[in-house]
Amino acid sequence: MNKVPFGPTYDEMLHPETISPDVRATALKQLHDNEMDPINLFNINWKDADNKVRKIVLPPELTGVDANIVVMLGCGFPSGSHKVGPAYSTLIEGLVDGEISAEHTILGPSTGNFGIGTAYISKLLGLKAVVIMPDNMSKERYERIRRYGGELELTPGSESDVILTLERTHEMMKNPKNKALAQFELMANYRFHRHVTGGSAIEAVKGVGNGRIAGFTSAPGSAGTLAAGDQIKVAFPEAKVAALEPYECSTLANGGLGQHRIEGIGDKMCTLIHNVLTTDFIILIKDEETVQGVKVFHDGTDLLLKMGIDPALAKILTYAVGPSGICNIIGAIKLAKHMRFGPGDNVVTIATDGFDRYDSVLEELNARYLELTENVLSRWTQDIFIQADEQHIYDVRRPAAKQRLFRQKESDWLKFGYTQAYLDSMQDQAFWEAEYAKVAPYNHKILAQRGE
Ligand SMILES: Cc1ncc(COP(=O)(O)O)c(C=O)c1O
Repeated sequence: MNKVPFGPTYDEMLHPETISPDVRATALKQLHDNEMDPINLFNINWKDADNKVRKIVLPPELTGVDANIVVMLGCGFPSGSHKVGPAYSTLIEGLVDGEISAEHTILGPSTGNFGIGTAYISKLLGLKAVVIMPDNMSKERYERIRRYGGELELTPGSESDVILTLERTHEMMKNPKNKALAQFELMANYRFHRHVTGGSAIEAVKGVGNGRIAGFTSAPGSAGTLAAGDQIKVAFPEAKVAALEPYECSTLANGGLGQHRIEGIGDKMCTLIHNVLTTDFIILIKDEETVQGVKVFHDGTDLLLKMGIDPALAKILTYAVGPSGICNIIGAIKLAKHMRFGPGDNVVTIATDGFDRYDSVLEELNARYLELTENVLSRWTQDIFIQADEQHIYDVRRPAAKQRLFRQKESDWLKFGYTQAYLDSMQDQAFWEAEYAKVAPYNHKILAQRGE
C-alpha cells in the first residue's frame, strides 16, 4: 500500500501529466494491480498513460451523420465510472473546508454510480460510507458498493424514484455525525465537470475534424456532466448543448414524470447544480432503444464488422458503453441531424460507465425478445442510430423556456430549505462563474493539506 499524499487538485485531474512522475507511474500501475490502493485517487482523470483523453470517434457508417461523434469513455476511471470524480471532489472540498472529518459517516444519495464512487473514495480515505439508493437497480451496483465496504440504505422504487433517496438523505443529515455528498446540490460536482470534463473535452477534439466542438450532449442524472458544456462554450461559443431525458420521464422537457429504465439519468427533477442558462436543447430518448443499443454494441461485433466498423473500435464497443452512454450517443446523432452539422464538425458526448454493471440488463432483454438474430440487431442498428429521427427535440433557448426550467427548479428545491433569493441568483451567469472561480482556491487548499 502506498502512503496517500491526500489526493489530486482540480488542475491535476485535468492535467495528470503535472502530477509528480513517481506518483503518476505508481498510480497507473496500481489501477491494474490493486484498485483498493489509495494512490488510485491520482487516477481520477480522463487520460490514459500517454496523457491522451480516453475516447472513441464513431464513424458515419454507424451514426448515419457526417459529423464526428466523439465519445469520452468513463469506464477507465477507478471504480469503473467518472462519477468517482464528483464523489472525490465533494468529499475533498468538505475535508479541506474542515466540514468533514474522520469521525463522520459519509452519505451518498444515488442511483448507483455515484454511490459506488462514494463507497470507493470513502474506503480509500478511511471513512465510513452509507449509500442511499432505490431498491430496484441492477444487482451489479449493490454488489460493487458492498465490495467497497459501503453500507446500503434502500428506498422504494427504481431510477426515477431518486427523489425518495434525497428525502431520506435530508432526514439522516439531522444527525450531525452524518455528512452527505449531495451530488444534486453541491457545486463541487459542477466544478469537477466544468473544469476536468469540460477541459478534457476541449483536448479530446484536438486533431479530430475541425478541432472545434459544435455540440455537446449529456443526459442528466445530477447534471454534473452537463457542466462541461459551460467550459466548452467558453472555448467554442458556437457550441450547442443538449440535455437528454428519457422519453418516458420528460421532466425538463414538459414536466413529465414516469418510470424508465435508463439507469443513472432522468431523476424527475431539475437539479440544483444544473445551469439551465447554457442548455440549448432538451432531447427525449426512448429507454428501450438504449438497452437495444447496448445489445448491438456488446453482442453485435460480427454485424458491426460487416458494416465496415474498424475492428479495434468494435472491440471497445463490446465493453465501454452502458445504456446512458447509448442514450448520449443517440442524442448526439439527433443533435447533429437537427443542426445540420457536416463533415469536420464534432459532437462530443460521454459514456459514463461501461458494460460491467449491465449483464443483468441484457439477460432481461434476451429473455424478453427470445430470438435475437443478426437480422434483428441489424434492424435495431438502423432504427436506433442510422435512421434516428428529429422528433422530441425541444429548443429551450428562449426566455419563456428558461423561466419554466427555473420554476421546475423552485418546485424541486424550495422544499429542501433553499431560499428563493438563492435560486434567483442562479438566473445570472455570474453565479456560475463565481462558483467556477473557486477551483483555484480549492487547488491551493488541497496542496496546503498535502504540505506543498
Ligand atoms: C450510468 C450513469 N449515466 C449517467 C449519469 C448522469 O451523470 P450526471 O450525474 O453527471 O448528470 C449517471 C449518474 O449517476 C450514471 O450513473
